[in-house]
Amino acid sequence: MIGRLTTAVEFTGEEASPWGALKLIAGSANPDLAQRISDRLDVPLTDPRLRRFPDGEINVKIEDSMRGHDVFVIQPTSPPVNEHLMELFIILDALRRASAGRVTAVVPYYGYARKERKTQPREPISAKLVANFITLAGADRLLLLDLHAEAIEGFFDVPTDHLSPHRIIAEYLLTLQLQHLTVVAPDAGGGRRAEAVANQLQAPIAFGYKRRSSDDEVEVIAVSGDVKGRDCVVVEDIITTGGTISKLAQALHNQGARRVLIAATHPVLTGDAVERLKRANVEQVIVTDSVPIAPEKFDPELVTVLSVAPLLAEAIIRVHENRSVSELFS
Ligand code: R5P
Repeated sequence: MIGRLTTAVEFTGEEASPWGALKLIAGSANPDLAQRISDRLDVPLTDPRLRRFPDGEINVKIEDSMRGHDVFVIQPTSPPVNEHLMELFIILDALRRASAGRVTAVVPYYGYARKERKTQPREPISAKLVANFITLAGADRLLLLDLHAEAIEGFFDVPTDHLSPHRIIAEYLLTLQLQHLTVVAPDAGGGRRAEAVANQLQAPIAFGYKRRSSDDEVEVIAVSGDVKGRDCVVVEDIITTGGTISKLAQALHNQGARRVLIAATHPVLTGDAVERLKRANVEQVIVTDSVPIAPEKFDPELVTVLSVAPLLAEAIIRVHENRSVSELFS
């Protein structure tokens, strides 16, 4: 695990928080990330005492008083997404009923983000529905990381801070001393994300053009840009089935790319995604710890995990102290 962020996390004390003491609570989605944030801030995790009723329903019982406190609930809504969402709603509800002063939902991976618009008649916009539920349950604000679509921020009528992991990713890529680097966006929708990394590395961008024939089958129709003889880094938000990345990696090799690496924020990695990536002749898959990787899927030869805990911890302390979060990226 590699965790890097140049800014040290410290309570400045310059601006006392009007929201009471900082409290951290985590659901069960990513306990390791929550612990890393807690260690970084030197603030213990409050145990929500998550448990199940015999019929599988979720219950929580927060033992410590939350009255008047500034509470941050850490819960990426990664698979099993419905379970983790429901945990988040119930923790938020408990906090509101416990008279917490202010509640921030820290959601480093936002499930249902890829259903952020209708592509066919009579489809839902699930990402908006989830946003409604999170605020209805009691979140006063949100801390988000690399949303699939930036427009999702606008689905919330409460303040949001949307963090980018791309400085962390770019700093790591710099250590690899890649030659003749090209940053590749898998599709037009990923252009701004790829640009964020390319700008920091002063590299050109290439684009893939893909067509999805089913939920787990993707066809890469074309790659435009300078990839022949170059070290190509594909910048993605999510790897789910690995379909997009493996087909794009193949297309890049077919067009003469020298090396292909993947940098993706959220390693959802369903089914045989890792096997697919191995078969696609990908040299290294760089991801963050926004989503935990099951031990049986973690291949240290292939996957490098960069921690976003320092970034999230820094953002939490800035929100708590009413200081600028955007300064983090300047
Ligand atoms: C879609 O537009 C996203 O940006 C990713 O490309 C997609 O979610 C990856 O999914 P999969 O790994 O299943 O191809």
